[in-house]
Amino acid sequence: MEKKKIQIKYKNYLKLLQKYNKYYFEKNEPLVSDKDFDQLKENIFSLEKKYTFLNSKNSPSKTVGFKPSKNFKKVNHKVPMLSLANAFSEEDLLNFEKKITNFLSKKTDFKIFYSAEPKIDGISASLTYKNGNLVRGLSRGDGKEGEDITKNLYTIEDIPKKILSKDFPEDIDIRGEVFIQNSDFEYLKDKFANPRNAASGSLRQKNSEDTKKIPLKFIAYTFGFENGLKVENQSDYLNKLKQWGFKINPLNKLISGVKNLIENYNEVEKKRADLDFDIDGIVYKINNFTLQKRLGNVANAPRWAIAHKFSSNKAVSQIKDIEIQIGRTGALTPVAKIKPVNIGGVLVSNATLHNEDEIERKDIRIGDTVTVERAGDVIPHIISVDFKKRKKDNLKFIFPEKCPSCGLKTIKEYNLITKKKDAVRRCSSEGYFCEKISVEKLKHFVSKEAFNIDGLGKKIVESFWSLKLIQFPQDIFKLDYNKIENLEGWGKLSVENLKYSINEKKNISLDRLIYALGIRHIGLENAKLLSKYFISFSNFKNLSKTNKYNELLNIDGIGETQVNSVKNFFSVSINLKVLNELEKLLNIKKSKNEDKNGLLKDKSFLVTGKLNNISRAEVKSLIEENSGTTVSSVSKKLNYLITGEKPTKRKIEDAKMLKIKIINQDEFLKMLNKTS
Ligand code: IVH
Repeated sequence: MEKKKIQIKYKNYLKLLQKYNKYYFEKNEPLVSDKDFDQLKENIFSLEKKYTFLNSKNSPSKTVGFKPSKNFKKVNHKVPMLSLANAFSEEDLLNFEKKITNFLSKKTDFKIFYSAEPKIDGISASLTYKNGNLVRGLSRGDGKEGEDITKNLYTIEDIPKKILSKDFPEDIDIRGEVFIQNSDFEYLKDKFANPRNAASGSLRQKNSEDTKKIPLKFIAYTFGFENGLKVENQSDYLNKLKQWGFKINPLNKLISGVKNLIENYNEVEKKRADLDFDIDGIVYKINNFTLQKRLGNVANAPRWAIAHKFSSNKAVSQIKDIEIQIGRTGALTPVAKIKPVNIGGVLVSNATLHNEDEIERKDIRIGDTVTVERAGDVIPHIISVDFKKRKKDNLKFIFPEKCPSCGLKTIKEYNLITKKKDAVRRCSSEGYFCEKISVEKLKHFVSKEAFNIDGLGKKIVESFWSLKLIQFPQDIFKLDYNKIENLEGWGKLSVENLKYSINEKKNISLDRLIYALGIRHIGLENAKLLSKYFISFSNFKNLSKTNKYNELLNIDGIGETQVNSVKNFFSVSINLKVLNELEKLLNIKKSKNEDKNGLLKDKSFLVTGKLNNISRAEVKSLIEENSGTTVSSVSKKLNYLITGEKPTKRKIEDAKMLKIKIINQDEFLKMLNKTS
């Protein structure tokens, strides 16, 4: 009996350790402190020492000594590490090419060459070389700021530490993917769900000796900052990388024409299962660097590249239940709880049903046998129901007309733009008074890209909410720490830590604050655009008084949907109260307009007529890059009217009347020290 009890205890410890590992590595959301983690391992070791009959392949004594760290130094990337837009079909690719051709103002027969590179599903890294020496290695982080993981990257054999080639740039960030080959993943299988997680976990080891034990590989494919790079296109760059001693993907190809891209895509997809590394698609990059520069970036992805994703993995399972989740915008999202099924190495037990219409359209019912699809990091969803397997008692699902959280009625809004009723049903509460919405709003408020409050994770927000410690964002900054100290699981030290991290975040930038408010349709990029426009918090807050919502339409990237949403936000009195309270408690930094002193500072422009070899979109981004603004009509606020072929007469007449300078394309380019 005694022996059995010990074995159970031992097994439970191991299970707990596995759970902690999973949360840490896969969800990046540690459940316990480093100290508690180590303590648990110690408990396991001491049991094993005392009772030699204990033995498990999952014991930390048998596996690599993982000790992940959260404490890497944060370093800014000199040039941000962007992500990529996705394409799933030939149509998406045709659209991509069309947009590029339009942006560059080229004829439709303009031949674009692409560097087609299989997209390895690993972890990207940026390696800084100075005078041929590897001096620093950063993880991607949030794209702007990475973690200094130089020591760990140093252990990777594929990464050259010194490059002597004469034509190697004196200063360059070489970027590429760190990954684990499938064959090497075999013995890490117990610890991680897939090779990608294994690569990420290994790279973030506290002790680089532990990273060294893992056979990580590196393939190079792009660069960030550079000084002295003498190549003009991506394919030449890839060749250079090879000459300098980097590994490049052997399946890279130079291709033109969407038809040929598709042919290559099909060929690579056929080879996919035989490759020793996971790929999830093909990246297409415009080969010519000059064109890449002209195309520039949108939000956080380049206009000149796209990732053509492979179709996903599918599996058959059964729906056990349908749950309604309530998001921070009040949207009711039905989620199917399915019999757990392994799809491409990941155990899936939830699948989104998107919205009420989707359930109706696909006639999805509890008890049904369904095909589930999981594509990349997208939430799994149900593609079809096997009606042959439907039982008589699988009844139609009735979508709740009342919010399951607060009981208020749910509504489908009328969308002014699509002129249709929304597919999504929402709780009609104003937010903070519906428990689920409020909790979700608060989780968003403290999340990484918003206030990023360490130690105030999702579980804690939930528990503080249920204990009535927080309901509105401002409550976070007025917490009753004495009460918290007496709660189970809390102590003096943990409360001190929480207090410290909350106080630290009282200094906040305007863009983060706007994002944190969780206004619908205002994500990170839009929050940045708004903060640049308003500069100060008081300007932003005063919008409720000035009512100048339509002026927001002048911001490039902000459309009617966003403006309506901002207007809605300000029309709710509790939101105004939250803003006033936050203003009192926080130190909100004014938005820095990064290159406010560009050549077109304080100048506004409007284009009329067709320009030569340059599209409207490119002119707009040129103006904004140089600190100018664009407006949509001729008014006193306009400084320059740029005219091209066949301009609108009315605009010219109005401009003349208002004594606005009228310039042509050459004169405009001259202002930027450029010629056409
Ligand atoms: S280029 C500027 N090239 O895909 C464009 N990325 O979704 C971004 N990736 O974070 C980098 N293979 O981790 C580029 N041949 C390739 C790639 C590649 C894989 C990953 C990389 C990046 C992500 C973007």
